[in-house]
Amino acid sequence: PPLDTLLNLDDIERVATRQISHKAWAYYFSAADDLISKRLNNEAYRSILLRPRIFIDVGKCETSTTLLGHGVGLPVYVSPAAAARLAHTTGEAGIAQACGKFNAIQLISTNASMTPEQIVKDAASGQVFGFQLYVQVEQSKSEALLSRINKLSHKIKFICLTLDAPAPGNREHDERASNMAATQSVTSIVQSSSTSKPPEGSGGTISIANQLFLGTDSRLTWKTTLPWLRKQTNLPIILKGIQTHEDAHLASLHAPLVQGIILSNHGGRELDTAPPAVHTLLEIRKYCPEVFTKLEVWVDGGIRRGTDVVKALCLGARGVGIGRAALWGLGAGGPEGVERTLEILKAEIETCMRLLGVTSISELGPKYVNTRAIEHL
Ligand code: FNR
Repeated sequence: PPLDTLLNLDDIERVATRQISHKAWAYYFSAADDLISKRLNNEAYRSILLRPRIFIDVGKCETSTTLLGHGVGLPVYVSPAAAARLAHTTGEAGIAQACGKFNAIQLISTNASMTPEQIVKDAASGQVFGFQLYVQVEQSKSEALLSRINKLSHKIKFICLTLDAPAPGNREHDERASNMAATQSVTSIVQSSSTSKPPEGSGGTISIANQLFLGTDSRLTWKTTLPWLRKQTNLPIILKGIQTHEDAHLASLHAPLVQGIILSNHGGRELDTAPPAVHTLLEIRKYCPEVFTKLEVWVDGGIRRGTDVVKALCLGARGVGIGRAALWGLGAGGPEGVERTLEILKAEIETCMRLLGVTSISELGPKYVNTRAIEHL
């Protein structure tokens, strides 16, 4: 169907689901165990009520803001996600093309299906990327990769270290799909030769997630990993996968080495029943609000509407990531499908702001939301 007949992110997901392979769908859609965190990610936003103010001039409305000091057209960025070429041949470069049109930041996954050089090659002037790192057991591989990223620092402006995945989550949709079909080879840019081969006896039926995880280091710590990373790069560092106020506070003690955190449960794909980002936001507001002044706080998981984005911003998030939604956009219509996704979100954010009586992102704050329904959790 023509992309302009797709009116919301659910429409786009439905079309993508029809168009991509079952195996790709299973990998993208899947989440851990019973998909409870995945479901709550979205439901938590739906349970927050908005508190619109009236009789305010909203003739002009501006969605632009800054993330880590970089001007962006909207507070939404694209979360790092593996294997975009399973959705469309243009892969992560297709997502980059769409982000360029909206001046949106894209985080490139360690497990991207194209090289970082290919992904940033045709970027718009001034377009900003981040690089998401999974540290490898063979540290020299990560060091080599980071030295490539350093050479792309005119486009890749920060490193995002993902910490919520020291082991792959139990994703049964992905696993079932892998047992059905002969495993199509999915390898990340750091994987080559020996360490990345499926273990003996797996019979080629290892799931995509488990395949991509091979070689990833499970032994990272605050003490050892941050100093190592600082030696490898001068780029700003943000930490992804913070799920408690305790860890948000710990991260803030590492400022300015650490410049930001992403509250995320990995789209519900790692530990099932881990909290939605918005719960962690509320915890931080309650127990360690100073975190918001020391670090930029971004969130992801379950974003499907402009109102979800606005609610997160009201509670102190500065950036809001979309993971699956970008992949569904790519699956539904290649780069133009991702553009449509961003266009819908931007329009919905604008409408929400106007109806709240707000005309700039900086005005958003807790007085515009009622979070009572999710506070008992
Ligand atoms: C992810 N995510 C992810 N995160 C990360 O740090 N590195 C990665 O390689 C991946 N890969 C990945 C693949 C796929 C298919 C998905 C769906 C997700 C997690 C991602 O960055 C983000 O946290 C979630 O996707 C956000 O939730 P939503 O927007 O998908 O609900």
